[in-house]
Amino acid sequence: MTTLVTGGAGFIGSHVVDRLLARGERVVVLDSLDEQVHPDGEWPAYLDVRATRVLGDVGDSHAVASALDECRAHREWGGGAIRVLHLAAKVGVGQSAYEIGEYVEQNVAATARFFAALLDLAGGEIERVVTAGSMSCYGEGRYEWTQPGGATRSGKGVIRSEEALAAREWDDVLPPHGVGEARPIPTGEGTPFVCTSIYAETKRSQEEITRIVGDQHGISWAVARFFNVYGSRQSVRNPYTGVAAIFSSQIRSGRAPTIYEDGEQSRDFIDVRDVAAAVCTLLDDRSTGAFNVGTGARTSIRLLAETLLDLYDATDLGVAIRGTYRVGDVRHCFANADRLRALGWAPTISLDRGLADLAAWAARTEVEDRTALAHDELARRGLIR
Ligand code: UD1
Repeated sequence: MTTLVTGGAGFIGSHVVDRLLARGERVVVLDSLDEQVHPDGEWPAYLDVRATRVLGDVGDSHAVASALDECRAHREWGGGAIRVLHLAAKVGVGQSAYEIGEYVEQNVAATARFFAALLDLAGGEIERVVTAGSMSCYGEGRYEWTQPGGATRSGKGVIRSEEALAAREWDDVLPPHGVGEARPIPTGEGTPFVCTSIYAETKRSQEEITRIVGDQHGISWAVARFFNVYGSRQSVRNPYTGVAAIFSSQIRSGRAPTIYEDGEQSRDFIDVRDVAAAVCTLLDDRSTGAFNVGTGARTSIRLLAETLLDLYDATDLGVAIRGTYRVGDVRHCFANADRLRALGWAPTISLDRGLADLAAWAARTEVEDRTALAHDELARRGLIR
């Protein structure tokens, strides 16, 4: 079996590469070594040397042709059919608010060209495509609440209004006709999308392109809809990465982790190795559709910060609750991953253990806390209020 992994030099991709190689499979990585993630322009030391490396952009048909040639070369050596895992993307939710053209170009247009090149160059040879989706497409997650008269109802929370956020009413997600508080419950794949960032919109488009191309051309496909992934190899130098890595950079530089809102907003944090296992399950399977990749547990951002402070032995730094908010952020969203569990996958790594591994990785990496610059950039553009 040979798998072509776009973005395979990245955080999630490299862990999938490890897992595929450990099973004795062959891997071809197509990666542009994007400067924001790989500032020195070098292939990262953590990428297993047994993976064949092709430097190039997914939107460049010459690069795709080279990668497919490498896949075919493996096949001559018993590599079997070609599977495609499409992970290459720009991932900064905040950054996408002003780099709109770059995000749409790299995530949508380049994905379209990538699939066109795959069809042109290897139409009949591709046996499975898995694309990275994102929970950010859901917008606010699912909740249950009480109706007048006492009955319990469940459904999607509403996107918080500007007025509520300006008044610092962080929990204002109750749908009309609800009474009291809305209680977060797991969000399943059938929940309608309400994208609140350009990034999310580009991920929605990637899902749709995968579905349409797969269905029209008879290629088996699935989307791995990731929740908040953290772990070793996460870029602790990219200030537009996920919150666990941002907090790690801040703490290691002797600064308190900066928390938006009141810190009680929550996410479903999943260790990258559990994500790699989920992706391999989806590559092996032939089921169609989107699959949530999350643990089903929710953790507040404040608890995440406190756990990391503990791990770095830096509780004296405390947390910096900003009381401001990032435009487009949702209050709560965590996964119902029953569809994926039904295929035999289950998460195995607790948050404490996973964060300890993230901290160990960060400790071996040079710190360069650029998060304040990223924050100032967002604030200057009115995206933090
Ligand atoms: C993240 C990923 C996105 C992925 C999605 C689902 C990034 C940049 N975004 O989006 O690619 O598709 O998960 O897996 O990796 N927060 C703070 N302080 C900070 C930064 C964030 O309090 O300095 C808070 C935010 O307000 C938010 C929460 O942490 O409430 C999560 O933020 P973030 O890590 O950026 O993740 P998502 O926006 O959920």
